[in-house]
Amino acid sequence: MIETSDENTRLTPVTVLGLGPMGRALASAFLEARHPVTVWNRTPGRAGDLLDRGAATAGSVQDAVAAGQVIIACLIDYDAVRATLEPAQARWGNRCLVNLTSGEPAQARQMSRWASSRGIDYLDGAILTPTPAMGTPSAAVLFSGGRDAYEAVRETMAAMGGTAVHLGDDPGQASAYEVALLDIFATSVNGVAHAFALASAEGIEPERFAAFATGIGGLLPEVIKRFAQQIQSGRYPGDRSTIASAASGITHIINTASGHGIDVGMLSAARGVIDRAVAEGYGPEGLARLTTVLHTAGRP
Ligand SMILES: NC(=O)c1ccc[n+]([C@@H]2O[C@H](COP(=O)([O-])OP(=O)(O)OC[C@H]3O[C@@H](n4cnc5c(N)ncnc54)[C@H](OP(=O)(O)O)[C@@H]3O)[C@@H](O)[C@H]2O)c1
Repeated sequence: MIETSDENTRLTPVTVLGLGPMGRALASAFLEARHPVTVWNRTPGRAGDLLDRGAATAGSVQDAVAAGQVIIACLIDYDAVRATLEPAQARWGNRCLVNLTSGEPAQARQMSRWASSRGIDYLDGAILTPTPAMGTPSAAVLFSGGRDAYEAVRETMAAMGGTAVHLGDDPGQASAYEVALLDIFATSVNGVAHAFALASAEGIEPERFAAFATGIGGLLPEVIKRFAQQIQSGRYPGDRSTIASAASGITHIINTASGHGIDVGMLSAARGVIDRAVAEGYGPEGLARLTTVLHTAGRP
């Protein structure tokens, strides 16, 4: 049992591997919650004020692992995690590796097998909020992997603040949510950049445009909830807007942007999906129907 809940007992020692912006934010949150914290980073000298605030620095990954009970990895990718932990596979005892590095579901499952084959308790995780949220009520972190591993670290992880959700035994679930959520972010941000480029080309001042653009952005929560209901029910009524209408709208954007010499690759790809939906007879249906057309495109 890892946890120590008695206030007179020392709180669980935490090791943070990786001192990028998020690794530093994590170490800071654990320090704030009065855990003993040891940090390690491939490149020395990145601890900022963490050492002044009480963190210890380890000279090697082996020492860093030995110093903690909960070992948190927060590196650039899973390859970096594997490369970092390769020399530190022995003497984990009942320590738990909590990997908060972003990646792909298959990589998380592979990492879990890697840990399991070395007798290392493993929990995968995905941080859904930016660094300033870490340790505050607005932090949101997803975990996946064995329930026992989650229960063993749950109290310690509370130092991250906000909401923590365990998604179940499949170690790939946290990454699965993360990539699907990043899908929204990546495409939306590209859409915002494209819209500003188009607006600027038409002589619209960015701040005047933003006043209306935020209204469009504000439509997304309702769209997301409506899509979820329709996908769940398998019914895609076109009573509010139709795919046929979207085909017309996206054509106006493509033509105007092309006229200004602005790249329309992303919009043309979206137009391709809409065209396929119309060709398959879904023109009168709502936009949530596009999710099934995308699936078809992915099959041989
Ligand atoms: N920053 C955010 O707001 C945020 C939000 C959610 C999730 N995340 C996730 O958190 C993770 C860490 O993000 P971050 O923002 O802290 O910084 P990052 O730039 O993604 O990662 C930097 C860290 O990775 C280490 N690293 C890079 N290549 C390495 C290698 N081959 N071997 C060992 N270590 C290596 C760096 O060490 P060196 O200093 O030696 O280069 C540094 O510690 C990422 O997976 C990111 O997607 C970040």
